[in-house]
Amino acid sequence: MIRIAPSVLSADMAHLADDVAKVVDGGADWLHVDVMDGQFVPNLTFGAGMISALRKLTDIPLDVHLMVKEPENYIERFADAGASVFTFHAEATDHVQRHLDSVKKAGMQAGLALNPATPLNCIEEVVNDLDLVLIMSVNPGFGGQSYIPAATGKIMRARRILDQYGSSAPLEVDGGISRNTIADAYSAGADTFVAGSAIYGAADPAAEIPELRRCCLAEV
Ligand code: DX5
Ligand code: ZN
Repeated sequence: MIRIAPSVLSADMAHLADDVAKVVDGGADWLHVDVMDGQFVPNLTFGAGMISALRKLTDIPLDVHLMVKEPENYIERFADAGASVFTFHAEATDHVQRHLDSVKKAGMQAGLALNPATPLNCIEEVVNDLDLVLIMSVNPGFGGQSYIPAATGKIMRARRILDQYGSSAPLEVDGGISRNTIADAYSAGADTFVAGSAIYGAADPAAEIPELRRCCLAEV
């Protein structure tokens, strides 16, 4: 399974509908939406209004990545707006397990994201509550950063934990994914790949999606 999730953070906001159509035409599996609050990360982006707008543009799942403090405050609003996956950071709240449960009760898939320096143990403690694990391969906040090589080993260890517990949760990687890095993450066991600048910075964003899939398989 190779799931490609283009990040609209790198799209042209003045031509958002066109930029969404391009990646949907290219076979994007999910659309990744980066929500930032200017506190958990030093950047400010979208709210629930953006989710509603995107929901009207496409039927593919909206993979919402909340880089916000106290993400629990947004569960109902994002569910109402049409989010499919609601992924929040383990570092951003005190009651991870409770909020994973609330996300599912609100009708969304519950994902947990870990910053590069955050150890994997918290995944193990809540493995049965997880619908998705997101390994950050950059420090979150901005598109266009370089893949941190240590993420590859962390993906391998996360893969082992999921397999050990019989979890079929997608293992997603986010940050610096491109033709040059996707094969490492794929070989390590990731199955879901966020790509912002690699897709929207390409001359033909639609064609970049099959190209990224090809790069995964080329090195195996
Ligand atoms: C970074 C965001 C990413 C970002 C990835 O904080 O979480 O989703 O859009 O952008 P690239 O693919 O350019 O690293
Ligand atoms: Zn993201």
